Amino acid sequence: MPRTRDGVRGAVITGWGCAVGNRRVTNHDLEQTLDTSDTWIVERTGISERQVGGSTAELSIRSGQAALEMSGLDPASIDALVLSTTTPDRVVPATSATVQAGLGLQCGAFDVNAACSGWVYGLVNAHGLVAMGAERILLIGTDTLTRITDWSDRNTAVLFGDGSGAVVLEAVDGAGQMLAWDLDADGTAEELLFADIGGFVQMSGKEVFRRAVRIMVDSARKSIAHAGIDIEEVALVVPHQANKRIIEAATKQLGIPLDKSSVVLQRTGNTSSASIPLALVDALDNGRVKMGDLVLFVGFGAGMTAASAVIRWGATS
Ligand code: UT7
Repeated sequence: MPRTRDGVRGAVITGWGCAVGNRRVTNHDLEQTLDTSDTWIVERTGISERQVGGSTAELSIRSGQAALEMSGLDPASIDALVLSTTTPDRVVPATSATVQAGLGLQCGAFDVNAACSGWVYGLVNAHGLVAMGAERILLIGTDTLTRITDWSDRNTAVLFGDGSGAVVLEAVDGAGQMLAWDLDADGTAEELLFADIGGFVQMSGKEVFRRAVRIMVDSARKSIAHAGIDIEEVALVVPHQANKRIIEAATKQLGIPLDKSSVVLQRTGNTSSASIPLALVDALDNGRVKMGDLVLFVGFGAGMTAASAVIRWGATS
């Protein structure tokens, strides 16, 4: 599917913020209750600690508040709230409704669930709303996976953390920051990674790992091709933070040096929908993104979804 920007009204990110669970759980803490070790977890995943706690709405309100404050916008001026989450607080209503009220927004609000790819799905949706006339969007990615984690299962308990990342997008007169995007899914792989309603996350880790690398690389290549850029031009990769080895393998196959990636999983664990915005906010707060830089977002998740996008930071036209 072509991803043309011709005649499309675009947006730029003007504010950002994040929040994480308030309880720090280290690998050494997990050693006390699980047949695991800090050495195994660090070597196989890159994770040293994760932050646990909070509801999806609480974390979203904290990150959303920070992003709104940075943008300097009146909450009442936001035209839509898009909340990416796999762990809503209730089946009904959508958690975005709770967040909308908590932030004092007066606009439409909806949840997006595309598992760990969800924030990039939300980013594309947000740009679509701007193309159709919306002026200001609040996009949040939040997950509280530790609430659906079996803490006695070492296959999953060592991986997850809770967090939220938010951005404010504002319409511009020109085509804006979004150069290209790609969204994919393969529902035939559903049984590799799932949680039933009321149940815990179940995962075939090795197979998810294998597919994750492949679908991240495929999706990133599609976005780069649609954007009409060379891979060497990418200044920063913001990948889903599931496993350091997945990021290393994917960036290696793409031919992008690892030091161009933002990696925060060593202290956050896998925060699903929050992982890409948390890594973006970390890069921004550390001055790693300059005006005009090309930023590649790429994620994968249950479903098995994959999503990528290339933006030119700060571009209005
Ligand atoms: O957001 C998307 C969701 N998930 C993912 O992206 C996860 C993708 N998969 C992975 O990241 C990796 O497959 C894991 C980190 C889950 C597992 O790493 P692995 O290198 O694929 O290990 P493995 O499953 O092949 O297990 C190797 C060994 C096994 O023991 P034996 O059979 O070799 O004796 C496991 O039983 O490690 C054992 N093991 C552990 N040992 C200590 C599995 N989990 C643990 C653990 N601590 N937590």
